[in-house]
Amino acid sequence: MPTLAEVAKREQQLLCSTYSRYPLHLVRGEGARVQDGQGREYVDLLGGIAVCVLGHAHPEVTRTVCDQAARLVHTSNLFYQTEQLDLAERLVATCDLDRVFFCNSGAEANEAAIKLVRRYAREVQGKDRFEILTAQGSFHGRTLATLTATGQDKLKHGFAPLPSGFASVPFADIAALEQAVSPQTAGVMLEVIQGEGGIRQAPVEYLRQVQDLCADKGLVLVLDEVQTGMGRTGQMWAHQKAGVKPDIMTVAKGLANGLPIGAMLCTEDMSAGFPPGSHATTFGGGPLVSAAGCTVLDVIKRDGLCQRAEAVGQEFKELLDGVKTRHPEAIREVRGQGLMLGVELEHSGPEVWKALLEAGFICNLTQNSILRLLPPLIVDMEDLQAFAAGLDRILDSMH
Ligand SMILES: Cc1ncc(COP(=O)(O)O)c(C=O)c1O
Repeated sequence: MPTLAEVAKREQQLLCSTYSRYPLHLVRGEGARVQDGQGREYVDLLGGIAVCVLGHAHPEVTRTVCDQAARLVHTSNLFYQTEQLDLAERLVATCDLDRVFFCNSGAEANEAAIKLVRRYAREVQGKDRFEILTAQGSFHGRTLATLTATGQDKLKHGFAPLPSGFASVPFADIAALEQAVSPQTAGVMLEVIQGEGGIRQAPVEYLRQVQDLCADKGLVLVLDEVQTGMGRTGQMWAHQKAGVKPDIMTVAKGLANGLPIGAMLCTEDMSAGFPPGSHATTFGGGPLVSAAGCTVLDVIKRDGLCQRAEAVGQEFKELLDGVKTRHPEAIREVRGQGLMLGVELEHSGPEVWKALLEAGFICNLTQNSILRLLPPLIVDMEDLQAFAAGLDRILDSMH
């Protein structure tokens, strides 16, 4: 097995250096545990950034992938195939939306949403509207349009000229949103809990006000559930807790437990904006990923993983709150819902993150001060207890 240094050196010569890698070469995983090239085991509290909802190497997903791969991997969207329909049927059964467009990632799902908002406004509503309002601190992807929609200027550096038709307003501020609506505004796109932005939750009241504003002004409400979805927050979709109904929802990450897939779901009415030939993708919703997605949704339902995420997440949050109580000088806030939690540190974010990794715990540090925890929904409570104890020990040793 090559050493980490050897792998890093090889990569330096071969890849565009777009990623600042963690100092870890992962070779296998099982459940919520992964192993590096030297055989050291880690507890994975990141799960591929909210992707591996059923954990690594889930036997049923593996079996589905092997069976489907032996039968039919790809057809092209020129042909009918039922795997995509099986997944669409399961998806629409989880929410109040009616139709699905499949693609390959979160960014592509949001691209589809942006294109549909524009086309719906022009071709169905007959209005010359195109602008989409988003929130500061949001993250919607890295393609040019989704990057422009993203409310973080630091990610846009060097990519001008960016597409027009987007504006970001302060998150969870209904007055700011109302003020930003112009005759050109066609829709609003939001995360229910900003993930990349630091586990920042939109208050229920705000989400309802946004829904009312959209209804009042005839705007399309797009909810980006790429990170919050798939049962992570204790409901299949985070917006369901708030009791709001989007016109469009975007999904990706955990949908096929690690195989690349994205989906844009919309109402029957909105789907009129996407007639034949208006949008397409080569790989989207292929038989292999769709079959895997069906298994993921079946297992989440059968094993009650939404309820589990809620219960286990609550217990984990209480443990982390306990660590905060013992270290008020080090932890500013513990927040989030279900198994989408953030621990905002007062200082020394990179040091704490590194010490956790050295202690055998993988998590993400976002915005340089927030430990982002997105473990598989099947994670054992003992692993979460070990993480909380590890964090406690590290903070003890630092003060
Ligand atoms: C809320 C949200 N939307 C969109 C994306 C983009 O997804 P992808 O990286 O699959 O393009 C992400 C990725 O982190 C995300 O968290």
